[in-house]
Amino acid sequence: MREFSESYLSRTREGMWDDSRLALEPLALESRDRILDVGCGTGELSRVLAAESPGEVVGCDADPALLAAASEHVPTVAGDALRLPFADDAFDLVVCQALLINLPEPAAAVAEFARVSTDLIAAVEPDNAAVEIDSSVDAEGRLERRARRAYLDGVNTDVALGADAREAFQNAGLEVLETRQYDHVRTVEPPYGEGALTAARRKATGDGLADDRETMLAGELTAGEYDDLRGAWREMGRDVIEQMRDREYRREEVVPFYVTVGRVPGAESGSGIDSGAESGAETES
Ligand SMILES: C[S@@+](CC[C@H](N)C(=O)[O-])C[C@H]1O[C@@H](n2cnc3c(N)ncnc32)[C@H](O)[C@@H]1O
Repeated sequence: MREFSESYLSRTREGMWDDSRLALEPLALESRDRILDVGCGTGELSRVLAAESPGEVVGCDADPALLAAASEHVPTVAGDALRLPFADDAFDLVVCQALLINLPEPAAAVAEFARVSTDLIAAVEPDNAAVEIDSSVDAEGRLERRARRAYLDGVNTDVALGADAREAFQNAGLEVLETRQYDHVRTVEPPYGEGALTAARRKATGDGLADDRETMLAGELTAGEYDDLRGAWREMGRDVIEQMRDREYRREEVVPFYVTVGRVPGAESGSGIDSGAESGAETES
């Protein structure tokens, strides 16, 4: 299982869902009684769900350290997404965010979600192949694209799953109701927050890239090419820090997330949406 640190999750989720929650509308959060957030990590999505729903939100994750952070916001239970420690039909919505991209068999997890839900299932999954970066440091976008390509090539799960999560739903026997797009825009500009300073330091030391070294080398990238990339990466990181000192550094990253919503077979339509919602545009931003 891929591991995530608390600081990585709080940095990469900063501001997520603060600008618009339209893509969460099909989850009918206002009428839910019991919601399960699987792979909740530090509870970044759980908090949003709890703010939008009168029902109880429970977080579940396999990593106890992350779960401890999430438990400051919602009740939590340790567990594996493929063998959830809950009875059949214990919730009326089971949702995950950026979990299926980390699982070799997303449909198996979705089938397990369906076991514990009486009504809806939702997955919020990014398409990491479609991330866009605009930076005041010229080399940054180019190097990040190169590193991303190498990572996508070596990783053994579908980290570009995005809207294709609908296939996992269908393979698990679910009726897909709707897919909506939410673009998470992360902007770095002065005054720089702690997260931006940490990210810049990790570029200049090469530590951020080193975390993904093994995955990159599992793909087409050779060790020599990795060393070249790391050298250019660190130089780019030093330029970022220099521009930050002059308060000139600006960066915008757009990560497209897709919210796929399905209904478990035989569920009564209590969500206010029907499969007719699927006709028309499949995604909306
Ligand atoms: C990218 S993080 C997403 C965390 C959170 N949902 C968010 O969006 O901030 C993926 C999470 O899935 C958890 N995870 C991965 N495999 C899991 C499994 N088989 N069962 C339960 N949790 C799992 C990880 O521990 C991690 O917290």
